[in-house]
Amino acid sequence: MTPMAIHTDTLQELDYRHLWHPYTDINAYEAAPWTCFERASGVYLYDRDGRAVLDGIASWWAVALGHSHPRIVEAIRAQAGVMQHAILGNQTHPLAVRLAAKLAGITPPGLTRCYFASDGASATEAALKIAIQYWHNRGVRGKTRFVALDEGYHGDTLGAVGIGFVPAFHAPFDGAVIKSFVAPAPHRAADTDDAADRACAVQAFAALECIVAAQEDQIAGVILEPLCMGAAGIRLYHPEYLRLVRELCDARGLLLIADEIAVGFGRTGGVFACDVAGIAPDILCIGKAMTGGTLPMSAAIVTEEIYDTFRNEPGRDRTFYDGHTYCGNPITSAAALAFLEAFEAEGVMQNVASRTPQLAAGMARLARHDAVHYHKSLGLIGMIALKPEVGGAALAKRIARRAFELGLFIRPLGNVLYLWPPLTTTEAELAQMLIYFDTAIERGQLPMSEPLPSADDGR
Ligand SMILES: Cc1ncc(COP(=O)(O)O)c(C=O)c1O
Repeated sequence: MTPMAIHTDTLQELDYRHLWHPYTDINAYEAAPWTCFERASGVYLYDRDGRAVLDGIASWWAVALGHSHPRIVEAIRAQAGVMQHAILGNQTHPLAVRLAAKLAGITPPGLTRCYFASDGASATEAALKIAIQYWHNRGVRGKTRFVALDEGYHGDTLGAVGIGFVPAFHAPFDGAVIKSFVAPAPHRAADTDDAADRACAVQAFAALECIVAAQEDQIAGVILEPLCMGAAGIRLYHPEYLRLVRELCDARGLLLIADEIAVGFGRTGGVFACDVAGIAPDILCIGKAMTGGTLPMSAAIVTEEIYDTFRNEPGRDRTFYDGHTYCGNPITSAAALAFLEAFEAEGVMQNVASRTPQLAAGMARLARHDAVHYHKSLGLIGMIALKPEVGGAALAKRIARRAFELGLFIRPLGNVLYLWPPLTTTEAELAQMLIYFDTAIERGQLPMSEPLPSADDGR
């Protein structure tokens, strides 16, 4: 049966009855206009009536090259008919090998060993376990905790919750996990000002330095989202922070874990955010865009030095006992390889470079509205924060709803609204997104007779 064969009313009823939606306020979802996209192509999502809506958030930050990218779709189709599953334990598969080698070639210097996982959270979990076992393998005991950033987000599994500090997402689990040490976020809540942003980052770093000095015996490493703390509310911060943390980790022998699950592959203007800051982490987590948003796949990529500590010695088992059924899966590997081929062959970074000033200018223009507190942008990320006194978060939901009615899909993060378009978005498409965004802010500020309709709640 094709999806169209189910009548819309029936589908909606079945949805309300049986589907549990993530990050969704149930009551608001049931009260809101029902949204169901059925197909997608390029920057457009299409609902059941065929209405086209611009995807302003690259479908949860994953669809980097636009929807239904022909090269990736074809690679999936071709591999699906050849071999669908492979075990990487004690054996291998050509596509996983090629992908690992390819990733080693494009990730920041020194990252040579690719450990495949399934989705973002499982890559984060692997990174944490690798870091802890690294110390164990070296015979150092007690280094089992991490320093993470306030309002940081690294996924929803319990280990990732232990290093996450977004109160709404993480507070219920406080008693269930071992929380990491929390350092202040380096973000400055104001329009971009290089000197002031840098000073804020340096100040935040000083606090991190104190935590490390006090707890060094327990700390395995530092984990952070480089340059952009996404789920916290697109908190962009100065690259100097990363350079200082790198230096500190070098000086103290701590592992630096860069979680680029959201920002990896071009989003911040460099292939990786760490490249923009000119640093290399000890462990890099990637996911989301890795398959162009087609299939779940992720990886923790580590240095040779870390990898070597996992070699057994007589009488010492140092094996990494971690692995997911679908890790390095042939179909997802084919999708990731096709994504990387397209990423290189289709001038994606050139397009990012061309669209970056356009987006920055567009966000600055949006900031003229009275309701806007501040705006920031970096690469193909542009955000505005709304003033709390105008009902920031509620207004953000209303604006997102208005944008949707106009033909632009965006999701608020508290009082923050942002654009995170596919990296292949054309000048005309981005211009249209910005026009809709602008109009939505105007309309969102008008008094409304109906209740708040948006059900978006969180990332
Ligand atoms: C920085 C970061 N890390 C990890 C994750 C978790 O990824 P996933 O949802 O694929 O588990 C996300 C998801 O938004 C993220 O933004």
